[in-house]
Amino acid sequence: MIKLDNQLETINNYLQNQKWLDDNEKVESVEKPGDGNMNFTLRCKTSNNRTFIIKQSRDFVEKFPQVPAPEERVLREAEFYEIIKKNPDLSNRTPEILAVDEENNIILMEDLGESSDYTFLYQEGENLSEAELKEIMHFIADLHTHFTTETCSKIIYNNEMRKLNHEHIFKFPFMKDNGMNLDDVMPGLEAVKQDIISNDALQLALKHLGDLYLANGKHLLHGDYFLGSWLNTKSGLKIIDPEFCFFGPKEFEIGVCMAHLYLAQQPYPIIQKAMDFYKEKAPFDDVLMMKFMAVEMMRRILGLAQLPINQTLEERKALVERGVMMLTKY
Ligand SMILES: Nc1ncnc2c1ncn2[C@@H]1O[C@H](COP(=O)(O)OP(=O)(O)OP(=O)(O)O)[C@@H](O)[C@H]1O
Ligand SMILES: [Mg+2]
Repeated sequence: MIKLDNQLETINNYLQNQKWLDDNEKVESVEKPGDGNMNFTLRCKTSNNRTFIIKQSRDFVEKFPQVPAPEERVLREAEFYEIIKKNPDLSNRTPEILAVDEENNIILMEDLGESSDYTFLYQEGENLSEAELKEIMHFIADLHTHFTTETCSKIIYNNEMRKLNHEHIFKFPFMKDNGMNLDDVMPGLEAVKQDIISNDALQLALKHLGDLYLANGKHLLHGDYFLGSWLNTKSGLKIIDPEFCFFGPKEFEIGVCMAHLYLAQQPYPIIQKAMDFYKEKAPFDDVLMMKFMAVEMMRRILGLAQLPINQTLEERKALVERGVMMLTKY
């Protein structure tokens, strides 16, 4: 197994062996294209004035090498892009896959150019425009309606990645002793968690939703549809990083997306419009969506995958308590 690094020699040797460079073409410089935790991702600029992105998934999390992760995940990402190629509206909003190396879990992708993702929205006072929101919600509604187990001959299961996500969404954040002290995130937060987790109705609801997430569903989901997967580029909104994709319940995807709009404190009309834009294209089960939304908000407050959010302890407590209510009373 080849392990890429950011040395020009390593990159050039690898690309030449793969025959992924043109005659006499050489990579002249490399840079980190943006923030990422899971994988090794690099922008390469060549002597032919070409740039592309090379991405390798390994059997660990890039930023935390002691944490194991499904080694082949980048191949699931490539499969997602391959499936949606049939729909130009969707594929025009994602990077083109130029080459895939299944042996070493490496893909070569079109460079969407220097751009920023939308995680700046977690900062106070930053709001999405209605036009951007419409594109974001229409993309995901189009994905769910056009690509289903009925219309696709190839089904992506991505069980390993789902198992990993299941642990971090539905289990770890709600465990009594998981080795994480939430007071390190914000003093007082550990008590917020300890106060809610011994609720049997909550644990039952989490089990039920977690099982739904693990069961195979009908719609092709991006799998990680939040601010970090949306890129603001010179040619408009682009969607990246479907490494958690699978065929599942669309309410999970919309719930996750809505949770992040809430956590980013978007104004109420934006939240409402997000759902309206989706519903212009496809229906969904509101209660189920709200439950997945509640879990996502709670796990981002109480779990390992923390976000640069601004809410005070009191606000986080209120969100967590409201989450418990949504999960247990409906
Ligand atoms: N095709 C592309 N064109 C331009 N920039 C890109 C492209 N792919 C990725 N990037 C940049 O690199 C960053 C990391 O990429 P990506 O999200 O795919 O990696 P990751 O390791 O899976 O990240 P995460 O840990 O968030 O899952 C992106 O946020 C984006 O800024
Ligand atoms: Mg990723």
